[in-house]
Amino acid sequence: MFSKMNVLDIGSCNTKILCSKRVFGRQKNEIANIIKTPESLIYDGLICEPKYLYKELQKYINKIKDYSEKIAVSVSSSQTKSKIIKTNKKSMEEEVYKLKNANSNYISDYKIISKQGENISMLQVCIPKIIIENYIEFFNIANLKCQKIDFIGNALSKIKLASNEGTTAIVDIGGRNTNVIIQKDGTLEDYRMFAHGGASMTGRLAEALGIDINEAEKIKIKNGISPNPRRALKGELSIIDAALKSDIDMLLQELQSYFNLYVMMGRERKDIEQITLVGGGSLLRNLDEYIMRKLSVPTFRYPNDNEAIFAVTEGVLRR
Ligand SMILES: Nc1ncnc2c1ncn2[C@@H]1O[C@H](COP(=O)(O)OP(=O)(O)OP(=O)(O)O)[C@@H](O)[C@H]1O
Ligand SMILES: [Mg+2]
Repeated sequence: MFSKMNVLDIGSCNTKILCSKRVFGRQKNEIANIIKTPESLIYDGLICEPKYLYKELQKYINKIKDYSEKIAVSVSSSQTKSKIIKTNKKSMEEEVYKLKNANSNYISDYKIISKQGENISMLQVCIPKIIIENYIEFFNIANLKCQKIDFIGNALSKIKLASNEGTTAIVDIGGRNTNVIIQKDGTLEDYRMFAHGGASMTGRLAEALGIDINEAEKIKIKNGISPNPRRALKGELSIIDAALKSDIDMLLQELQSYFNLYVMMGRERKDIEQITLVGGGSLLRNLDEYIMRKLSVPTFRYPNDNEAIFAVTEGVLRR
């Protein structure tokens, strides 16, 4: 009837904290904080020093503890293994047994994502034990009760879209990584992580202009890119545009190859019909329009910046 929950998304660039209340089945967010993630404490999803991270975030963590002691997190790491398998009621037990006994360095779990008669589609996820242990250590130090550790692909699959019809992709462009899921009529079909995000766009711009990263970050945010894939700007604007696009094009090439491979690997698979952009990197001015023109796929982003930044945390909240 009424329950309160905090959600934590410790990204490589920003830590997002959401405090939310569920009243009669409806979610209401009450506090949303974005804090710069302390340097060098997160490495590929792993909390390197839980004690120090807590010290750095103490002020915010103590504030949310007043709200609720229950916490959920999303985990995103290139060391996470996930796959979607098609099985049936008979073989399911065996699949679960194999998964749970696969490798002692990983914690495994599964979720049934669809059922049609005897046929079952199952998401299997293995997360390095050390990542889970470090989160648990962090929660113990912070005196928080861990309710859920959610795999980012699963969190993304739960975010609300304007339309779920057809084959669609959700692309979460973060600071260091881009997480992508493909869904068919709203059901998760595939997940992939790319080690490429907003930080490399900034890095490329800093190099091109011969300036430091902080300055380049400001210029990136102020200017964005032109939506036109061909050269359209003059002077320094054209240098900014070209530098950012040279980095974005690499990410788009990776995305296109991934989408092609997805279609090739299944008989009934169709081309991506729609892309939804989320994450801080998706806020780059005109990125949606540029992707639409480059990949020839209708591309949307959230009208509200905060919605894009908190998309993963929102997903974690949902069942
Ligand atoms: N208005 C904007 N225009 C362009 N880029 C932006 C804007 N606002 C934020 N960014 C970029 O968003 C990125 C951070 O996004 P986000 O907070 O989603 O990352 P993260 O979750 O910390 O990282 P990751 O998911 O890779 O661990 C940074 O690279 C930043 O430059
Ligand atoms: Mg992120």
